[in-house]
Amino acid sequence: MNIVILGSGKGTNAHAILDAWKKGKLGKAKVKAVLSDISNAPIIKIAESFSVPTKLMGLSTNNSKISSYDAKQLIEMINEFNATIVVLAGFMKILPMNFIEFFQGRIVNIHPSLLPSFKGLHAIKRAYERGVKISGCTVHWVSEGIDEGKIIAQSPVRIFETDTLESFTQKIHAAEHYLLPTVIAELSNSNEYRQ
Ligand code: GAR
Repeated sequence: MNIVILGSGKGTNAHAILDAWKKGKLGKAKVKAVLSDISNAPIIKIAESFSVPTKLMGLSTNNSKISSYDAKQLIEMINEFNATIVVLAGFMKILPMNFIEFFQGRIVNIHPSLLPSFKGLHAIKRAYERGVKISGCTVHWVSEGIDEGKIIAQSPVRIFETDTLESFTQKIHAAEHYLLPTVIAELSNSNEYRQ
């Protein structure tokens, strides 16, 4: 199962996937490339440190949603790597319908809350400020609605009175870094995606 990772930022989830792969813990999945919309995003350096090919998406607009024209180029870029699954690991742009339809049922996203709670941006901060006692992270299939696709797996994280936003954030990230590689490994071992 070939995976291509898309990310915009720090790349700690990409790091967790690559590290699991290096340690033989990613099942039958192979990371073929890491793509970013941000030229100097740390995720690019992380991929390079694992000797994984990287590509920068050339986007013609700076909108929060990628245009369908740019999405076509992105589809071609991803197809070069023969991707079975596209993994969104901190990819902060919204993907248009032509992209989602092309990779129907083959795009996975990680989100830092227990969906359907706290969809959208700043989910960790909003959950903390709302005073919830349990939050967590979710890996789900990507559909047209933002953070709305079918849930694959979730990991709960408790918030204690003694937690600060920082300590809570760290716990969420630790949960993500375990959950996402685990889900990828499980998908790669399932009949559906075996290659
Ligand atoms: C992660 O917490 C991920 O769940 C979140 O962005 C962070 C990326 O961190 N994604 C979203 O909020 C998507 N809605 P990373 O670049 O260190 O992996």
